[in-house]
Amino acid sequence: MADLTGKVALITGAARGQGAAEARLFVERGAKVLITDVLETEGKELAESLGDAARFVKHDVSDADSWDAAVAVAVSTFGKLDVLVNNAAIYTMKPLMETESAELERILKVNLIGAFNGIKAVVPAMQAVGGGSIVNISSQSGLEGLMNHAAYGSSKWGLRGLSKVAALELGLSQIRVNSVYPGPIATPMVPYLTTGPGSFPNLPLERSGLPEEVAELVAFLASDAAGYITGAEVSIDGGLAAGKFIPRGM
Ligand SMILES: NC(=O)c1ccc[n+]([C@@H]2O[C@H](COP(=O)([O-])OP(=O)(O)OC[C@H]3O[C@@H](n4cnc5c(N)ncnc54)[C@H](O)[C@@H]3O)[C@@H](O)[C@H]2O)c1
Repeated sequence: MADLTGKVALITGAARGQGAAEARLFVERGAKVLITDVLETEGKELAESLGDAARFVKHDVSDADSWDAAVAVAVSTFGKLDVLVNNAAIYTMKPLMETESAELERILKVNLIGAFNGIKAVVPAMQAVGGGSIVNISSQSGLEGLMNHAAYGSSKWGLRGLSKVAALELGLSQIRVNSVYPGPIATPMVPYLTTGPGSFPNLPLERSGLPEEVAELVAFLASDAAGYITGAEVSIDGGLAAGKFIPRGM
C-alpha cells in the first residue's frame, strides 16, 4: 500500500472515472489533492466529499494559458506540489478514413498537448521542493496499433514518447516521469464495459479492470516507494499486452 503522507498532487480529469478513484485513494493514503476537470458539478461534489484534503478547480487541460493558474491554486492551497497525474483525456473510435484532421487536432490538444503543457507548468513547483513524480496515463492503444483508433491512438503513442523524453530531461531535477497503459477499465469513457468475472473473456484475466485498480498503481508510482523508477511503462490490462491470447473454447 503506497504511503502518500504529506504529498500534494494535482490530478487532471479527476471529476469521475479513474481520476476520481485516484483522488479518493490519494486522500486515503495521506495526500492533499487538487482535483481538476471541465466537469464542474461532479468535481465540486467529489472534492466536498473528501473534506479539507481536496479542492476542485475547473480547468481545461487544452487551454495552455490556464495551467499556471491551476498550479498556483495547488501551491497556494496546500503549500507545494509534489505529484502531477496527467489523466484527462477524450476518446473516439473511428476508422482512419472517416477521421477528419480537425478531430485528430482536437484529440491531440487534450490528450497530448494538455499533458505537455502540464509537465512544463509543474516543473518549477517541483524543483522548488527538490523533486516530484509525474504519472502520464496513456493506453494499450499507445503500445500497439488498434484498429479504428487513429486519432486516440496517435495521442496515446505521443504521450508515451513525451513521457520518455521528460524522464530523461527531468531526472536531473529529481522529477520522475512514468507512464501507465490501461486496458479496458470500466468508467464512463467506455460505458458499454461490464465488470466482474467473465466480463471480458478475450483477456487472460477474463474481466475488465476497475478504476480503483489503476488508482493503486498510480499511487505507487507517485509515492517514494517508487523512488528509483523513472521512464518506466507499466501496463495494467488483465494481460492484454502480453501477446496473442486464445480465449477458452476457441
Ligand atoms: N477506460 C478505459 O478503458 C481506458 C483505457 C485506456 C486508457 N484510458 C485512459 O485513462 C484515463 C482516464 O479515463 P477514464 O477511463 O477515467 O475516462 P473518463 O471519461 O471517465 O474520465 C476522463 C475525465 O477527463 C475529463 N476531461 C476531458 N477533457 C478534458 C479537458 N480538456 N480538460 C480537463 N479534463 C478533461 C473528463 O471530463 C473526465 O472527467 C484517460 O487518459 C484515458 O484515455 C482509459
